[in-house]
Amino acid sequence: MSNVTVIGAQWGDEGKGKIVDWLASRADIVVRFQGGHNAGHTLVVGDQTYKLSLLPSGLVRGKMGVIGNGVVVDPEALLAEIDRVSAQGLKVTPETLRIAENVPLILPVHGAIDRAREEARGARKIGTTGRGIGPAYEDKVARRAIRLCDLAEPETLDWKLDELLLHHNTLLAGLGAPTFTKAALLEHMNALAPRVLPYMDTVWDLLDDARRAGRRILFEGAQAVMLDVDHGTYPFVTSSNTIAANAATGSGVGPGTVGFVLGIAKAYSTRVGEGPFPSELHDEMGRTLGTRGHEFGTVTGRPRRCGWFDAMLVRRAVRVGGINGLALTKLDVLDGLPEIKVCVGYELDGKEIRSFPSAPAAQARVTPIYETMEGWTDSTRGARSWADLPAQAIKYVRRIEELVEAPVTLLSTSPERDDTILMRDPFEG
Ligand code: IMP
Repeated sequence: MSNVTVIGAQWGDEGKGKIVDWLASRADIVVRFQGGHNAGHTLVVGDQTYKLSLLPSGLVRGKMGVIGNGVVVDPEALLAEIDRVSAQGLKVTPETLRIAENVPLILPVHGAIDRAREEARGARKIGTTGRGIGPAYEDKVARRAIRLCDLAEPETLDWKLDELLLHHNTLLAGLGAPTFTKAALLEHMNALAPRVLPYMDTVWDLLDDARRAGRRILFEGAQAVMLDVDHGTYPFVTSSNTIAANAATGSGVGPGTVGFVLGIAKAYSTRVGEGPFPSELHDEMGRTLGTRGHEFGTVTGRPRRCGWFDAMLVRRAVRVGGINGLALTKLDVLDGLPEIKVCVGYELDGKEIRSFPSAPAAQARVTPIYETMEGWTDSTRGARSWADLPAQAIKYVRRIEELVEAPVTLLSTSPERDDTILMRDPFEG
């Protein structure tokens, strides 16, 4: 028996919510280890649709949810999300949700900086969610973050706010944006503290106890490898490490506890926000994939850019992300297409290259090399066994396994939880 870590293998929105929900029903604890309320996980349970941003998905299945130190928490957004799911009948209490005492907080000043900087970047904007994620992580590494535990110490908040505002107000004024007063931020935090502090816990210790007791831990990644701050398409990335190694750092466990790494990939590619996307389609086919796949951002509602499956990038995600097996989602979106393309290589200035370059000008000159496969006419939607799939669809899945050098251990054939084909149980390692 093993723990499981789930990460996105493309640019996010691969359908992690459903897979995590499915795995959560078999886990004891579900842990978020990076990102913040920039993430959007949609869970369909019976007639309820839960849209979670910050809360670990396991809560929907009555499992303990843990927010690790690697996450950045906006207390206002957290409480609003708790209120929203409570109205849908889901109970979130300090018994079911624990938040690391050393988690950095996102304050209104972070969102303001995020949005002001994006505006100043103009055409070179990153396309962030505008929720203050980047500025909050910057404060963490700059050692000026206000952390959850600080909310319990008025004397600490006092001097930390001075330092924080000295930095951020200078920046905001320079960007021509309104500045913040210490009194307003103090009032904001003091109003939220009594509702947030009951969730605070020593998460590393709690998880160590759980590990020793042989409880199953599911680490729930947000965003995806191509948005990783080190390994993604920098600077068009999020500000955290999204790879499985960060499940350890971001929750306070050793690397051995991460367990089986399940990467989630869509049967095609999508991206929200700006940045390189070698196999992007700007034609009717791109629009078809978007319409059929309902490709709109969960958090921002922005239409997602669509393209063919990029085996080069997913193979890279397998390698740097430590992915042991892939869960392939949304295969049904390709049903009925006469032919399907897969990006199997890149050309730069007329020469084939081994991997996607890191420098922006070179990235812009990359052209994809495609392999064309025959499509299938029968529907794959709702298939629950390998035998239910058309032969050509099986061929497509097998080809992907070959190209990305990882087995497809799970196939999701509709948003419904039970429409899943399991080849190998990740909890069995
Ligand atoms: P930030 O995380 O808000 O700083 O945004 C940085 C980049 O990551 C932008 O391109 C966002 O669109 C993208 N991003 C952040 N969170 C998600 C997500 O959950 N799914 C897909 N893209 C995301």
